[in-house]
Amino acid sequence: MSEHDHTTLTGLLALVRDRIEAGLHDRDAAARLPVLATRDAQGWPSARTMVMRGFDAHDWTLDIHSDADAAKVLQLTDGPRAALHVWDAEARLQIRMRAHVVRLPHEEEKALWQQVPEPSRAQYGAVPPPGTPIAAADAWHPNPRPARFAVLRARLLRIEALHIGEIHRRARYEREEGWQGSWLVP
Ligand SMILES: Cc1cc2nc3c(=O)[nH]c(=O)nc-3n(C[C@H](O)[C@H](O)[C@H](O)COP(=O)(O)O)c2cc1C
Repeated sequence: MSEHDHTTLTGLLALVRDRIEAGLHDRDAAARLPVLATRDAQGWPSARTMVMRGFDAHDWTLDIHSDADAAKVLQLTDGPRAALHVWDAEARLQIRMRAHVVRLPHEEEKALWQQVPEPSRAQYGAVPPPGTPIAAADAWHPNPRPARFAVLRARLLRIEALHIGEIHRRARYEREEGWQGSWLVP
């Protein structure tokens, strides 16, 4: 699965990086579908599954796409603090992440829209917008358009890894500390 030594701080972080990267290329990798948690206007946590669309392993940023009028985008515009979560059963690894999540500039979103395959575009532009109460399950229609395509970039600030083994190992890594990491009681 991985040649990384999860018993060292650097090895465990390298394993995290590999397993997130796997989510980009392998449809079956757990990190393909991270859970993104935000807070709603009342302060309630709100978590949902997302497809990971991009990962910069050097800068530790992760991209996801959404309908621009979805609640999560509006919540993140109000305040960019979010959490991301992955449980990678194959690697016996839980990855908990803290991030600042912001939309890319509109010009960049427009350029990326060109790369969205035609059938996938229907996900961006529901009328009425996502989350609107409707009288029947199909009482809405897609109206795909670039103005409703949001690319969210999560800049990871903290990563917590929990490796489940004969001995459980938990470590925390902070961007501010150069990702050097420290062990925690699991
Ligand atoms: C397997 C799976 C993948 C999903 N991928 C995305 C995605 O990439 N982008 C997205 O906006 N919603 C995605 N969703 C839907 C979200 O989980 C969520 O229901 C929707 O975005 C509305 O969330 P919100 O109202 O909190 O913004 C996915 C759901 C599932 C079950």
